[in-house]
Amino acid sequence: MAPTTRFRAFTGLALAGTLAFSLVACSSGSDEPAASGDDGGELTTVGFVAVGPEGGWRTANEQNIQDAFSTENGFDLKYAPSSNGDQNSQITAFTSFIDEGVDAILLSATEATGWEDVLNRAQEAEIPVVLLDRGIEPNDESLYTSRIAPDNVGISASAAEWANEQFPDGANYVVLEGPPGLSVVNDRNKGWDEAVSDNLVKLESQSANWSTEEAKSVFETMLKANGNDIQLVFAQNDEMGLGAALAVEEAGLTPGTDVKIITIDGTQAALEALAAGRLSFVAEYNPLFGEDAIEVVNAALAGEDVESSIVVPSTTFDSPEAATAALPDRQY
Ligand code: AHR
Repeated sequence: MAPTTRFRAFTGLALAGTLAFSLVACSSGSDEPAASGDDGGELTTVGFVAVGPEGGWRTANEQNIQDAFSTENGFDLKYAPSSNGDQNSQITAFTSFIDEGVDAILLSATEATGWEDVLNRAQEAEIPVVLLDRGIEPNDESLYTSRIAPDNVGISASAAEWANEQFPDGANYVVLEGPPGLSVVNDRNKGWDEAVSDNLVKLESQSANWSTEEAKSVFETMLKANGNDIQLVFAQNDEMGLGAALAVEEAGLTPGTDVKIITIDGTQAALEALAAGRLSFVAEYNPLFGEDAIEVVNAALAGEDVESSIVVPSTTFDSPEAATAALPDRQY
């Protein structure tokens, strides 16, 4: 069981009434009157250091967070997407939120390393930080209040176990990875490598940076370099798997028959492709955890114990029938 992280209540303020006052004082952070909610109550200000446009999963996740942290729910969410995935723009936004004196900060990191300084500054300012999706490396749980994400290691292990069943006599495969160094990429490689059977042979792995276009180009090259003798692709997100399917079709091969493609995320586009037989296995990486994030932020601000790691449940889809049945109810 991951150790719980007790977020310190504001120093020297034991009484609830005083604590409420400090929240108001902290949240305004300036001479500006604190924003108020529909019920006239003071809003909790939350800085969201986000990734920004990146693909279907990211759009669903960031919209879910913004929908959850609404003024109706008592929040003033300040959304700060990165500049084209640039970590420096995230660090600038993070620092600004500390200087503003927001009540809490949400972080979806574009890089795994380089966060110690700003996380230490947030702790000194007694601002709880909640990691969304992406982790930090090295993973020092004392630097943040909690991380909320599906289990990347378990999700990719489930994909490998399906691949083992599909190819009991072995196969050649390649891996299309997300950007190098990300915690989710490292964990997806870890889960897959630990579970995949020895008679599945990894010919090569290469980043296609979550992109359909880049994955199509990368896999076209891989197919040519290996004489089309590749039976399986482990694509670490849906967009890259859809790019691999395009490359298979352009090579005159049939996805699902000549090459089975596994993806992670579970977006509607991927499930539609699975229903059509263009993908073969889709592992959901559930992006809808805004309500979980609200509970963590409220508990941290109330000085309650908070789990340092909160795993978001996710499912898998292993057939066209499963995808077809799920599609009408999908929320992203
Ligand atoms: O960190 C989660 C990953 O980032 C998703 O799997 C991918 O689609 C997104 O870009």
